[in-house]
Amino acid sequence: MIASPVAYWEPLWASGRSYLRITDTETQLLAEHLGPGHGRPALDLGCGDGALARHLHNHLGYRTTGIDCAPSAIALATATGPAIADHPHCQVMDFVTDDLSELPDPAYAVITCRLVFRFITDKGAFLDRVRQLLVPGGTFWVVTELTARRADDDQLKSLGITAPEVELLTSRWSTVTVADLGRLACFALRP
Ligand SMILES: C[S@@+](CC[C@H](N)C(=O)[O-])C[C@H]1O[C@@H](n2cnc3c(N)ncnc32)[C@H](O)[C@@H]1O
Repeated sequence: MIASPVAYWEPLWASGRSYLRITDTETQLLAEHLGPGHGRPALDLGCGDGALARHLHNHLGYRTTGIDCAPSAIALATATGPAIADHPHCQVMDFVTDDLSELPDPAYAVITCRLVFRFITDKGAFLDRVRQLLVPGGTFWVVTELTARRADDDQLKSLGITAPEVELLTSRWSTVTVADLGRLACFALRP
């Protein structure tokens, strides 16, 4: 259990740690399940170095905000390349404890959460906050490992979410769609 997200994540980002890259298969799933943004607002929770936020913003056309509790992650996310004229807005914020009014928009058509849900201590409270911010008909997109996809003696098994956590994640939505991405699962959840 992570008591202080910033105390846990900031040293990892500051030391140059990086996480699983987005593949072409994953971008195809994003296009298929989220569709074109047409300038609608999207929020990427735990955006890290901003790769998914940039994809949503620059390729799918969402007006994207990325938030992360780690300042070093946001420093990477906001380091813009010379060829990129437009880029997502990224800010330091702890999604669990900070005031949601700090976000630039009161509601979002799409909220994404990639390789983050596993690390959230109070997952029920986290999901309640997501629901507060999703517009009717919006999509909550979660990419996560599943413990069931690794052998019992695999030391990385704890990177996934358990069956009860999948149940918690997928309950109370009107539609739930699941897509496989190797060891990862992608959930498209609609209120
Ligand atoms: C495994 S990394 C994944 C980063 C990115 N989403 C990706 O796919 O590369 C998890 C990220 O979630 C962020 N995070 C964890 N808890 C958070 C919270 N309560 N509020 C905001 N960000 C959080 C961490 O700082 C870290 O950047």
